[in-house]
Amino acid sequence: MSTNTPTDTTIDPATILDTRFKDAIHAAVPDLPIEQIKTLITPSRQPKFGDFQSNCAMPIAKRFKMQPRELAAKIVEHLDVAGVAKPVTESNIAGPGFINVTLLPEAISDSLGAMDNDQLGINPPDAPPTVVVDVCGVNLAKQMHVGHLRSTVIGDAIARLYERMGYKVIRQSHVGDWGLPIAMVVEQLITIEDQGTDLSTLSLADLNAMYKVVQAKCKAETKALELIAKVGGHAKAEIELEERIADANAALEKAKARLVSLQSGDERSVKVWQLIYDITMSACLSTCQRLHANITDEHSAGESTYRDELGPLVQDLIDRKIAEEDDGALIVKCEGIKEPTIIRKRDGGFLYATTDLAAIKRRVSKLGGDIVVYVVDSRQSLHFKQVFAAAHKAGYDKTPAGKDAVLFHAMFGTVLGEDNKPLKSRSGENLNLTDLLDEAVSRASATVAEKNPDMPESERAPIAEAVAMAAVKYADLSTERIKDYVMNFDRMLAFEGDTGPYLLYALVRVQSIFRKAAEQGIDTSNYHTAPFKLVEPSEKALALMLLRYPALIESAGQACEPNRLCSFAYDLASAYGPFYDKCPVLKCQDEALRNSRLRLCDLLGRVLGDALETLGIPTVERM
Ligand code: ARG
Repeated sequence: MSTNTPTDTTIDPATILDTRFKDAIHAAVPDLPIEQIKTLITPSRQPKFGDFQSNCAMPIAKRFKMQPRELAAKIVEHLDVAGVAKPVTESNIAGPGFINVTLLPEAISDSLGAMDNDQLGINPPDAPPTVVVDVCGVNLAKQMHVGHLRSTVIGDAIARLYERMGYKVIRQSHVGDWGLPIAMVVEQLITIEDQGTDLSTLSLADLNAMYKVVQAKCKAETKALELIAKVGGHAKAEIELEERIADANAALEKAKARLVSLQSGDERSVKVWQLIYDITMSACLSTCQRLHANITDEHSAGESTYRDELGPLVQDLIDRKIAEEDDGALIVKCEGIKEPTIIRKRDGGFLYATTDLAAIKRRVSKLGGDIVVYVVDSRQSLHFKQVFAAAHKAGYDKTPAGKDAVLFHAMFGTVLGEDNKPLKSRSGENLNLTDLLDEAVSRASATVAEKNPDMPESERAPIAEAVAMAAVKYADLSTERIKDYVMNFDRMLAFEGDTGPYLLYALVRVQSIFRKAAEQGIDTSNYHTAPFKLVEPSEKALALMLLRYPALIESAGQACEPNRLCSFAYDLASAYGPFYDKCPVLKCQDEALRNSRLRLCDLLGRVLGDALETLGIPTVERM
């Protein structure tokens, strides 16, 4: 029996080989549990031995104390590669037990032909699951900072990957638009409006500045006072601090009262809150648009939208004895997690976790999420562990069909500056995302101008914008999601190397073949159905790489790892150079071969374009 049953439409010979090898290993070593079978198939290190090699025999032999070559022979005996590769016999075993495989040339060309359709060989599942992707998640009255670059760019790419796989995708931006910090800003705006300020002229930068002022205003320096009292300090300092604390307490009380009035729908409070919301979201959504992230108004599901659900939710947890009192607060204890999840503070206020519990409930039972992916900073990993466990304990993760939804924190690392510390602006604050994007565009403009001195500025500007966004996004997406990475403009904007601009340039180059053909009057009308003829090693290598695409989309999507798609796109773009050098296309005299190569270029252009589209990276026609 097959351990991994790809559908009949599996076209990647490597994937087919993987299945056949699994079956053979299972037959040769029945004691090895099926789920532990690793076929270890890689492209051959020495093409003269074949296209692929399996290194599976060595580790299995070690584990079961067998002779690796003998085991390899046993595997080969059971191996059926009919239809994909030339028969594999003992003569294909090399060294300590490598098993070499040579594909049938027609297997590659037939598979390529099967892939050459609108879907590029990617077939949607019969019953597509619904995936909710938590993206972006900005906070009101705050400018987007570089952390939101990642939740936006990676979040959107993960959503696009699932869409590409044919899943139903719902993006949700969990906007931080509720609670005391926002009430503080509302209170402040009402105060300054009473003093005569016209609120309609405020920008997000103004709100951001105000946010900091009110935060500081409400922060009592109680600790300092306690210290002065303990060690004995200057009486005047003590009095000053006491006054500051009294002021802070008063400001805090006012903000709390404002939250209550906001909660109860007081007209003026709501109006000012709405103003803050509109200013923040219009700036945020235009940044998303600039980043080619498909995140719009309809994806916003702010914390405020859960406010009426929190009371009943907490009551439900009390009634079912899932939550318990602890020193006046209400907590949920979950097995395996030391820190209990606090869902109501002693003063009766709800928390970030309470809202996230309500969000899980909505996402699974109302929106129908079978999978809920949270694309959020890794520093929130404890929060999500707690919330997922508490939701599970309460059964809020049960789908309408009665299954447990998959809740997954697709966490990401921090963007660092050249000093390896979290990236900050010159004044030591969180770096504003708009400033960062502007900087990238201004640098890209210089490069585009340098490379295209004759191009009019009006044509250069949109190219520079696209190149900059591609550079920033690719740099972010191509590092392993979990890792921190250093933001380096020079490196990410380079036209050579593993960069966004390089990929855009490669795509332009591939597509330029068809422009040149038109200019030279070469007939390109009948390559679309031409049989693939893979003569040179470099075109065979390109073909094998293209065939990996469908399986790669699937695995990158399942793992929520867009960086895998980035490496694939980079490898593909890099494989074009050797092909171009060794395989004349337009100059090829053999018409059948020329058509085959044109078709290969066309397929390459479409796969590369599709990969970039799936990553959310904008492309250009010239650069
Ligand atoms: N607003 C939060 C922040 O800036 C991110 C929200 C993440 N999503 C969630 N469901 N908690 O940190």
